[in-house]
This record gives sequence, C-alpha cells and structure tokens, in this order.
Amino acid sequence: MWRNSRSGWGLVSILFHWLSALTIIGLFALGWWMTGLGYYDPWYNQGPWIHRSIGLLLLFATLARLIWRLVQPTPKAEGSRLETIAAHLGHIGLYVLVLVVMISGYLISTANGRGISVFGWFEVPALLHGLPNQASLAGDIHWYTALALMILAAGHALAAIKHHWLDGHKTLVRMLNPVLSKRSDHKVVR
Ligand code: HEM
Ligand code: HEM
Repeated sequence: MWRNSRSGWGLVSILFHWLSALTIIGLFALGWWMTGLGYYDPWYNQGPWIHRSIGLLLLFATLARLIWRLVQPTPKAEGSRLETIAAHLGHIGLYVLVLVVMISGYLISTANGRGISVFGWFEVPALLHGLPNQASLAGDIHWYTALALMILAAGHALAAIKHHWLDGHKTLVRMLNPVLSKRSDHKVVR
C-alpha cells in the first residue's frame, strides 16, 4: 500500500506526485499573477512571500521524493520501446526542470544576501549571493524554465491520457490507486 512494486505506485509516491503537480501549477499561476501587481496592492509583498515559502517547502519535499524514488522499485513501463524511452527522458526532464526552477527562484530571493523566511516558521540562509547580475539572471532562468516545465508537464499529461484512453494501459490508474502496487498482475482486461 505505502511502497511501490513492479506493478504499481505506492501511496507515498502517489501523494508526492499529485501534491507536487498541484503545487507546481499553483506556484506558476501565483508567480505570474504576483509579478503583475502594482506597488500599492496589498498582495505586492504577501504574494511573493507565500510563493517563496511554498516553493521552498516544495524543494524539501522534492529532495525527499527523489530519495524515496531511489530506494524504491518502480512499476514496469508500458507501451512501445520508443514510448518507454520518451517517457523515461520526459520524467528526467520534469525532475531536472523543477529543480532548476526552484534553485533559480532561491537565487533570485537571496541575491541581496538575506535569507528566506518560510511562513515565519524558520529561515533558509542565503548560501550564494552577490554574483554579477544574480537577481536578473536567475529571474530570466526562473521564468523560462518555469514555462518549459509547464509545456513539458502538459505533454506529459496528454501522454498519460493517451495511455489511458487509446492504449488501455494501466499507467494513469496505477498513479491514482495504490492498491495496484500490491498486485503482481498489471494487465488490463478490456
Ligand atoms: C516549481 C516551483 C516554482 C514555479 C513553477 C515558479 C514560477 C514562477 C513564475 C511563473 C514567476 C513569474 C516570473 C516572471 O513573470 O518573470 C515566478 C516569480 C518568482 N519566483 Fe517562482 N516559481 C517556483 C518556485 C520558486 C521558489 C522556490 C522561489 C524562491 C525561494 C521562487 C521565487 C520567485 C521570485 C522571487 C519571483 C519574482 C521574480 C521577479 O520579480 O521577477 N519561486 N515564479
Ligand atoms: C506539473 C505537473 C506534473 C509533474 C511535474 C509531473 C511529474 C511526473 C514525474 C517526474 C513522473 C515520474 C515518476 C517517477 O518515475 O519517479 C510522473 C509520473 C506520472 N505522471 Fe505526472 N506530473 C505532472 C502532472 C501529471 C498529470 C496532470 C497527469 C495526468 C493527467 C500525470 C500523470 C502521470 C502518470 C500516469 C505517471 C506514471 C507513469 C508510469 O507509471 O509510468 N502527471 N509525473
């Protein structure tokens, strides 16, 4: 139930996946909206504060997710050889992009040498600051990689829907139902 097996994802991986997906989409929308606010808007400081705090919590959750991913088995890939390779590269791409987005966001926020307060609960120190043009360079990287992440995630979601509706594979169902991780048989009966 909690752990993965060769036939399905366990609850831990499923929760990591869907909570991360919702958070990432929410952070993209919040980031886009907050950068358009005027100086006198009450959300001018509040928006970025929430964005940074949730973003850093996502960073810690992603590191925990990657450790869990390395110590757990993964379900067998479904589809043709080309699809399997594309899915594998796509998943690596999603992990890399999400890490680059979060690290560049951290570098924008700490460029002035000040740490980041996470909802006032604790502070993450500024480890790297004062690089030439740090804030604007990290800002450009943050925006373009966030955009690339959204595009890749949309392709990834379309691929999941194709596996489900056109191919009749269990890929989407096993990312929703942890009970499948206990079964040895993962074939779909249609
Ligand atoms: C996957 C997670 C994240 C996504 C999808 C995301 C997305 C975005 C987007 C779309 C913007 C608007 C960019 C623009 O219009 O130029 C933005 C701005 C920003 N983000 Fe993130 N972000 C994430 C994580 C983070 C993290 C972890 C931090 C810091 C700890 C952060 C700090 C910032 C800052 C400071 C801005 C304002 C930049 C500016 O004023 O130009 N973000 N983010
Ligand atoms: C920002 C949004 C998303 C991100 C960053 C993301 C990321 C990922 C990653 C990295 C994996 C690979 C897991 C691993 O091997 O450790 C994965 C798997 C998966 N994702 Fe997403 N995902 C997102 C949204 C979605 C959406 C919207 C859907 C469905 C409509 C979806 C369906 C799936 C499925 C079915 C799998 C399992 C693939 C398999 O079992 O081989 N994902 N996702």
